[in-house]
Parts: sequence; structure tokens; C-alpha cells
Amino acid sequence: MDPVRVTVALPEDFPAILDVQRQSFLVHAARGLDTSIWTEETLEEITRDATEKTILVARDPAGAVLGSVRFQTIEGVVFVRKVNVRPDMKRHGVGRALMQALEGHIPADAHKISLCTLLMTHENIPFFLRMGYRPETVLPDHYHHVDLLCFGKYPTRKNPA
Ligand SMILES: CC(C)(COP(=O)(O)OP(=O)(O)OC[C@H]1O[C@@H](n2cnc3c(N)ncnc32)[C@H](O)[C@@H]1OP(=O)(O)O)[C@@H](O)C(=O)NCCC(=O)NCCS
Repeated sequence: MDPVRVTVALPEDFPAILDVQRQSFLVHAARGLDTSIWTEETLEEITRDATEKTILVARDPAGAVLGSVRFQTIEGVVFVRKVNVRPDMKRHGVGRALMQALEGHIPADAHKISLCTLLMTHENIPFFLRMGYRPETVLPDHYHHVDLLCFGKYPTRKNPA
């Protein structure tokens, strides 16, 4: 695949980001999970979120949005939210490009990257394991009663391969 370009998103990117995010998370709705926090986010909500988080967007060489991820750093811990890739572009390295760009953008003194993902899915868990994240805890009955598995990565420590 042609190289993916990841940049910090601007407000004009938000409609396309929301469109791809909706398509991406709909796969989980098909499994009966409540995915509304991802699939029904409004322009107003993402605009508000962008005042406290950095949003990164991945594009193809023609500029089409392929996916996005957001993060916020609090007291040295980087909280990652809503990583998503357009369904027809999964398994082409876009998710990896987003996570690598995120790790390049975090503050130098951040000691931990933390994220939680849906427990009952087949794709997210191998993805985060391949990205070097390790499972830390389960959050049962969390957002919209969904069970989450939380992962951590410690940029300043050596992680197992
Ligand atoms: C999870 C997600 C972001 C992965 O994005 P992606 O672009 O397909 O992932 P990549 O192609 O960059 O894959 C990176 C690594 O993860 C592995 N991987 C990705 N999806 C996988 C799957 N379904 N099963 C097994 N391994 C997988 C790849 O093999 C690759 O490892 P390798 O390079 O060593 O071979 C994507 O599937 C997605 O958008 N899912 C729906 C939204 C979602 O649930 N996001 C997570 C919410 S927190």
C-alpha cells in the first residue's frame, strides 16, 4: 500500500473523521454491543473533545481519511481513545501508523500509555498486543454496560517483544 500520512487533525477534518469512525465501530454494533459513543458522536462533541485531546488523522496519498486516534496526557499518563480504521483498509498497517505517530507525539516525560478496548472482540486485542501493549485489568459493565479490557505500555521501560 502507498504510504499513510498521519498528522494532527484540524477542525475541517472532523466530519470525515466522524464518518470513518462510525463505519469502523459499526462492526461491533452488528455483534449487539452499544457502540453509540463511537458511531453517534456529533460534530459538537468532537469539537469539544479536541479542546482537551490531540486528534491524529491518517490519510492516503490522495488525502482521503483512513482512520484516527485521540489522546490526552494527565500526570504523565497518556490516555488513548477511539483508534479506528476504515473497514476496507484494515490489515494494511493504518492502525500501526496511527499508534506509532501517537507515540511520537506524546510528551517526552510521559511514563505510561493507557487504553481500554472492548473485551468481546476478535481484532482489537491481537492488535494492541502486536503494538507492544500488555493487558492490565478488566473493567466490567463500563461505558454503556460494555466490558472493557485495559492495556498499558511503558515507553521508558523495556517491554517484552
Ligand atoms: C483495531 C484496528 C484499529 C486495527 O487497525 P489495522 O489498521 O487493521 O491494524 P494494522 O493493519 O496496522 O495491524 C497492526 C498489527 O496488528 C495485527 N492485527 C490487526 N488486526 C488484527 C486482527 N484482526 N487479528 C489479528 N491481528 C491483527 C496485524 O497483524 C499487525 O501486526 P503485524 O504488522 O505484526 O502483522 C481496526 O481493526 C479497527 O479500526 N477496528 C474497529 C474499531 C475498534 O474497535 N478500535 C479499537 C477501539 S479501542
